[in-house]
Amino acid sequence: MYSEKVMDHFTNPRNVGEIEDASAVGTVGNAKCGDIMRIYFDIDENQVIQEVKFKTFGCGAAVATSSMATELVKGKTIYEAMQVTNKAVMEALDGLPPVKVHCSLLAEEAIHAALWDYCQKNGITIDGLEKPKSDIHEDEEDEEEY
Ligand code: FES
Repeated sequence: MYSEKVMDHFTNPRNVGEIEDASAVGTVGNAKCGDIMRIYFDIDENQVIQEVKFKTFGCGAAVATSSMATELVKGKTIYEAMQVTNKAVMEALDGLPPVKVHCSLLAEEAIHAALWDYCQKNGITIDGLEKPKSDIHEDEEDEEEY
C-alpha cells in the first residue's frame, strides 16, 4: 500500500525536532482528522532556508510527507520553497494511497504558514503566498507543547 520511500521516511523521519529562535514557525491543523504539524525554518540573510525542523502530531503519512518536505525545502530560497507543493512531495515519495492525499497537505500548509510568518516579520511578500487558512499560530506565551 505504501511505497518504500514512504515507509523509509515514516520509520526514519528526517529533521524531527525544533529550532530555538527560529526565523519562522508555521503551525497548521488538518480539519479532516485533527492532526497538527509545526515547522521551523532558520533563514539566512540571503533568504535561503538553512535549517528545517518539524514536529507532527499526526498519522504515518503526515510524518512521511513532513519529513520529505523538510528535505525538499532545505537549502532553497523562500521563493523556491513555494514550489514544494504537496504534489511535489508526493512525487518525491513515489505516491500516496488516495485516502492519504489530504495528509500531504499538512506539510504544504505548514511550509506556507512558516513562509507567511517570515514575510510578516520581515515585511516582504512572496507571489502566490496567502495567509494559510488552517494556521493555528498563537501568541508565543499561549503556546502549548504537544
Ligand atoms: Fe491526519 Fe493523515 S490522517 S494527517
